[in-house]
Amino acid sequence: MKKKSLVFGWLLGMLVTGSAFVQTFDLEKSIAQGKEAYITQCQNCHMEDGKGMAGVFPPLEKADFLKRPLREVIRVILKGQSGDVTVNGVKYTGIMPAQDYLTDEQIADILNYVFNNWGNKIANPVLPSMVAKARD
Ligand code: HEC
Repeated sequence: MKKKSLVFGWLLGMLVTGSAFVQTFDLEKSIAQGKEAYITQCQNCHMEDGKGMAGVFPPLEKADFLKRPLREVIRVILKGQSGDVTVNGVKYTGIMPAQDYLTDEQIADILNYVFNNWGNKIANPVLPSMVAKARD
């Protein structure tokens, strides 16, 4: 009986610290930092309004690509993207440079900005640890 309650207490502790971590992640701050980083790292091509450039740079605004698994979206930034990609029914054949020199935090911030802007929405914030995991 005693052992059981110990295990239960441990589980409860994990749950509490786990959710406390998510709650203390400052999404508003991340989005604000992400906006600054977007301006220097992404805006030249994907534009201030996230609409990209017809036929050349695909949009991030309401892009169906952003509904792909998060790891895939993170890896576009880390590894770049070339060859054909179809976004919202339009095919693009361009080259996006890899930006793996950005920190986990910078990439998480940029994605929190992108995912919470221009009509895009994501349920949970992108955390730097998720970017770290996608680096392999
Ligand atoms: C030099 C121009 C350039 C820069 C800078 C750039 N991209 Fe891209 N991006 C592209 C191109 C071109 C493609 C499509 C590549 C292809 O045709 O396969 C693309 C594709 C994408 C895609 C997948 C398609 C879509 O529209 O959803 C995402 C997501 C993306 N970029 C996000 C970003 C983010 C975030 C940044 C900044 C960290 C960034 N890009 C910086 C040119 C750029």
